[in-house]
Order: sequence, then C-alpha cells, then structure tokens
Amino acid sequence: MCGIIGYNGKRIDTLKILIDGLNSLEYRGYDSSGIAFKTNKINIIKSVGKVCELEKKIDSNIKTNIGIGHTRWATHGKVSELNSHPHNVGDITIVHNGIIENFKDIRNDLLKQNYKFNTETDTEVACALIDYYYKKYKDIKIALNHFEKKVRGSFALAIMVNNNDNLYAIRKNSPLIIAKNKDGNYISSDSIAVSKYSNNILYLEENVIAEISAKSVKLFNKDLKEIKPKFTKIDISKEDADKCGYAHYMLKEIHDEPRVFKNTTNQFIYNQIESLLKDMPNFTKYNNIHIVACGSAYHAGLVGKYLIEEYASIPVTVEIASEYRYKKPFYNKKTLVIVVSQSGETADTLAALRMANDDNIDTLGIVNVETSTISRESKMVIYLKAGKEIAVATTKAYLAQITVFALIALNIAIKNKTLSEKEINTILNDINKLPVYLEEIIKQDIYQIIATNIYKNDNIFLIGRGIDYALAMEGALKLKEISYINCQGYAAGELKHGTISLIEKNTPVIGILTDDNISEKTISNLEEVKSRGALIVGITNDTKINNFDYLISIPKIHKLLQPILTILPLQIISYEVAKLRKCDIDKPKNLAKSVTVE
Ligand code: AGP
Repeated sequence: MCGIIGYNGKRIDTLKILIDGLNSLEYRGYDSSGIAFKTNKINIIKSVGKVCELEKKIDSNIKTNIGIGHTRWATHGKVSELNSHPHNVGDITIVHNGIIENFKDIRNDLLKQNYKFNTETDTEVACALIDYYYKKYKDIKIALNHFEKKVRGSFALAIMVNNNDNLYAIRKNSPLIIAKNKDGNYISSDSIAVSKYSNNILYLEENVIAEISAKSVKLFNKDLKEIKPKFTKIDISKEDADKCGYAHYMLKEIHDEPRVFKNTTNQFIYNQIESLLKDMPNFTKYNNIHIVACGSAYHAGLVGKYLIEEYASIPVTVEIASEYRYKKPFYNKKTLVIVVSQSGETADTLAALRMANDDNIDTLGIVNVETSTISRESKMVIYLKAGKEIAVATTKAYLAQITVFALIALNIAIKNKTLSEKEINTILNDINKLPVYLEEIIKQDIYQIIATNIYKNDNIFLIGRGIDYALAMEGALKLKEISYINCQGYAAGELKHGTISLIEKNTPVIGILTDDNISEKTISNLEEVKSRGALIVGITNDTKINNFDYLISIPKIHKLLQPILTILPLQIISYEVAKLRKCDIDKPKNLAKSVTVE
C-alpha cells in the first residue's frame, strides 16, 4: 500500500533517485511522503499530499550518495507530516510498509525504558524497538534479528543507522526487492521504482537481513550466517511504466485491453484446442472449486463461477478473502482453491492461500505480477499477462481474469465433452475476433454523451441478471472508486424488494442485457424504474432491444466470452464520469493499488 525506495552507491544525485522512485510508487499510496538522506548527519524531509509537495521542499543542490524514501497510505495515525515516514528514534531511521500488530504492547514496554513517542504510528514504535535492541547489543544485525522475533504483523523496512554507511532491509508478509547496477544498489517495495536503473533483482526472503553498502549486498540468515545473494534478470517493460501519451494510466490500460486479451489467450491457444488442454492444470480431478479474492478480483471470481458451473458443471463457491480466512472452510481432497489477484500481494488473499496450502488442499493462483508472493506460494499458477497495471482502478487485469476463467471453463468443458464440436469451433472463432470487437467498442463515442447526462447524480444503479449481475457489481465498484458516486450493482429482480424506493426523477439505472434467455425479465425491471422517473441506459448485444434513453450496442459473441466485451463500456463510462467530476482518476482518494494490510 505504501511504497519504499532506497539507494546506496556512487551517484551523488540520490535525492533525484529517491524522488523519481517515489513518483513511480505514488500509485501505491499517496497520503504523504518523505525522504531521509545522509550528509554529515541524517536529514529528514516530509510532506503531506502528493510527492510533488515533497519535491517543492527539497533543495536539488544537495549531494549525497545514500538515502531512503516512502509514500504513505495511512493505517495507524491520521494523515499528517508528523505521522509520515521516515521515522527516527535515537540512532535509527526507518521507512515501513505494513502493520505491526502488537505495537501497543511494545510501546508500553518501551515507555518503561524511557522511550517517548511523538506520533500515533506503529512505525515509530518499530523504530524505537530497533533502537532499543541496537543500544543493548551494539550491533545492528543482532538488533534486527531480535526485532524480527518480537514483532507480529507485516513489515518491509529500509533502515539507516547513525554513523554507519550501509542501508539495511528486512521484511515479513510485505514485499521488498534489492536491485543493483554498476552505480550502486537500490531497495524498493516494487520493481517499477528501479526499472530505470536495473533489471537485476533480488527478492528478499523473510527472516533474512540485507546489508547494503555502496558496493555490495550481503545477506544474513536468522542465525546471522552470511548467505549468497541470488539476483535474477527480470523483464520490466518501459512501455508498461509509461502513459504513452494518454491523459491517464487508466485510459491507457483500457486501450491496452485488446492486446492483453491476445496475450492472455496466446499462452494457451497457440495450437487450437490441443494447447489449451495441454498447458492448463488438470481441473477434471476436482469436484468443487472455491474462488477466493478481494474487490474486483472477487467480482472476476463471480463471473468465473457462472462460467465454470454453466459449461463445466463443477459447483463453485466464491468468497471474499477477508471472510474466508476466518471461517470454517468446507473443503475436501477434491477441492481446488483458486485465489485471484492482480498484485499477488493482497494480504487477505495471501492468508487464504496459506490456509489452504497448510491444509494440504490444491491451490491455483491467477495472478498478474509474476514475481509476487501469491505467484510463488500457489501450488499451481496461471499468469494474467496483462502487463504492469498502474491505475488504482483495475481494468485490463480484471479483463484478463475473466478471460482466464473463460479458458478454464472451456478447458473443462472440452475434457468432459459438455460442449459440442460445433460450439467449440464457434468459441475459437470468437476468440480470434474478440480483440477487434474490443477495439470497436473502445472507439464508440456514446460514452461521453452518457457521462454528461449522469455525472451530477448522487446515486447510480447498475442492474443485470446472471452473469450480467456479476458485471454490474464490477461496473458499480469502478464508478464508486474513481468518481466517488454512490453506486450499487444489483440483481435486476431484487430492486423491487426495497432499493427501488431510492429511485427518483433522473436517477441513472444502467441495465446490462446480454443473455437472450433472461433479457426480457431485466427489461421489465427497467420499465419499473423508468415509470418512477429513472434515466435508463442499456448495454446490450441484442439489436432488437431499443427502449432505453441511451443505448450502448456491443457485438454478440458466444456466451462464454460475452462478459469480456460487456465489461468494457462500464469501465469507459466510469472513466468519463470521473473525468467530468474532475477526480484524480489514477489515484482516487483513500485507495491504494496493492492492499498489503488486513
Ligand atoms: C479494483 O479496481 C480495486 N482497486 C480493488 O478492488 C482490487 O481489485 C482489490 O484490492 C484486489 O487487489 P488484487 O487483485 O491486487 O488482489
């Protein structure tokens, strides 16, 4: 959620490296930011708001070769300069991602040792604890070793120590990488912050202490024995980290979707059906599936449930990870637990995965970030191949998630012979046509007209039945998160059981109608709200339906693939509405791209 950058090397423009890094990490959290760097002492500069506010406070003439920086997404303690990172206590200065769960007990213990606290944060307590052990053992590595044993929760820490020319790093349940090039060594919570400098990356393991000097990276295990660092070359595409001329990352990522669909499907369909069957896990051995995820990934799971149950006849339950991890799981030896995550670092999803792994249940991660913890810890993994997603509101990764579910359903249906050969050929043909259809949907100019007519409303409803209901929920989340309009996705038949009382003159109701078998029912529900004054927007693949105030027509394709087209207009409407409301589209307030705390 927060972002960490650090540098130790021969370059003297470290402050530029830190600010550039923070700018690229800002999508992860953006309440406040700060840096610490060494001259003849450790200096700290912090600011509330965006990184550009911090930049204004920094004298660009300052030369230093070592420093750390942080963008914060507040968890403990309000958004303030005091609470923002870096924190300093005694000889120790740190930046921290994560939450120290037992910080109150530690704080009470440290108060008895005469430590005083100026902030409400768990990070200041962590910093004091390291200082306490450092003063006790006179060795920073021993101090960090004791710190790791004492604290509960999650942490990724970059640490500076008075009168010591190294940086130190440790982590637990929160990612941290180290990168190197001929100019020096970098620490970050996300490879994007160092992608300009190096693709030679080390993923720091838990219970390992990294000592980073200007020239070397040394690692020490929990017995403080030195271990060999393993750097790997990763592929960080510059194009992914760039807006490529689009006004926002979200718009760029929406325009990426036709290419993403090809990348996702090309992993499995390069040799017609044979490759689809060969390169996917063997799903037919499971008699039930649990899909576990958060937010949009959870909504993708709902689409997955419809597709797998309809085409593969395997019962699927979809659960919110923060609930699943604390409830009694009803799985058996033939259960597959699928966790879905763009970032691969979402704390609750990771906890659900670990729970299933510990119970010896087969697990499959559907993940975008290939180097993430969920990718590494899932027994099986399918990559989304969506490329780096920067906008907080997911678009292309969600599209790739529902694409993967369509491919899984198709894979099982072919193996279990629940689809005819003719239908399979129709689906394969539609897969080939789908990128062009996505391009055509993007090019329509109806979205701005619709946005102009709905953006001033306080409430918007999206309704649908079956798989269209799952899409309505995702469309509503998209609108909520970037335009701050209260928006609900509803099962079309359920409105009249209470919520219809909220319909007033001109309340926008967006109806999604892509399934001939139940469209008529949804039309009746739309009529009900229209007669109460609602403004009706329809998204449909049925050319015969036209009784809406505004109509978005999308191509009709096989039902297994239809959601991949249907979601796109919802994403674009959200974008256009947020633009008219002058919202910060890529960095909506209160949100963070990767939710690494519970
Ligand atoms: C989507 O637009 C949201 N920003 C959010 O709901 C997100 O999908 C959720 O936090 C899960 O993230 P993950 O896919 O990285 O696990």
